[in-house]
Amino acid sequence: MLRGYQAGDLEAMYALDVACFEKPFRFTRGAMRRFAEAKKARVVIAEEGDVLVGFVILHIEEAKEGRVGYIITLDVAPELRRRGIAGVLMTEAARQAQVDGCAVLVLHVFTGNEAAIRFYAGTGFVRSHRAEGFYGPGVDAWVYHKPLLSLND
Ligand SMILES: CC(C)(COP(=O)(O)OP(=O)(O)OC[C@H]1O[C@@H](n2cnc3c(N)ncnc32)[C@H](O)[C@@H]1OP(=O)(O)O)[C@@H](O)C(=O)NCCC(=O)NCCS
Repeated sequence: MLRGYQAGDLEAMYALDVACFEKPFRFTRGAMRRFAEAKKARVVIAEEGDVLVGFVILHIEEAKEGRVGYIITLDVAPELRRRGIAGVLMTEAARQAQVDGCAVLVLHVFTGNEAAIRFYAGTGFVRSHRAEGFYGPGVDAWVYHKPLLSLND
């Protein structure tokens, strides 16, 4: 089941992020709260029963070329991977970005994150360039983007 963010989700989101990422890729509690509770944030939570099993945080950014949906993070519980949860979360995040008038989704991913790179490559994202030192000295990211159809077309 998918739903929106509630303040009580923060601890489970933080714990899942710790399970998903090593330093320097994981967020502090404070950063997670700021990202999830920003006015421009759209958060999609995946739940099984009453257990939070995945989430995506999207920010709606104003850019020169128009609105951009920036994926802050996408996390799925390790024991529940390869069941399509990330696919469902990203489909809903893309829909919400379209509703907010975004023409494109953009994200950074660590160049060594094979699972995520395969996921994005298989779900319509296109690699645009390498962001050197994005995660710290010598720790680079790939930048991916995915065009979105306008809901007015
Ligand atoms: C990347 C991640 C979100 C994928 O979540 P998921 O729920 O397992 O993904 P899905 O089940 O929707 O995968 C859809 C497809 O993506 C590809 N894929 C996903 N994980 C993969 C892996 N480990 N190896 C190869 N392909 C993979 C496959 O094509 C898969 O389809 P298939 O299972 O039918 O072969 C998950 O591995 C994760 O949370 N990783 C840690 C956090 C992270 O790196 N987030 C992204 C940060 S930018």
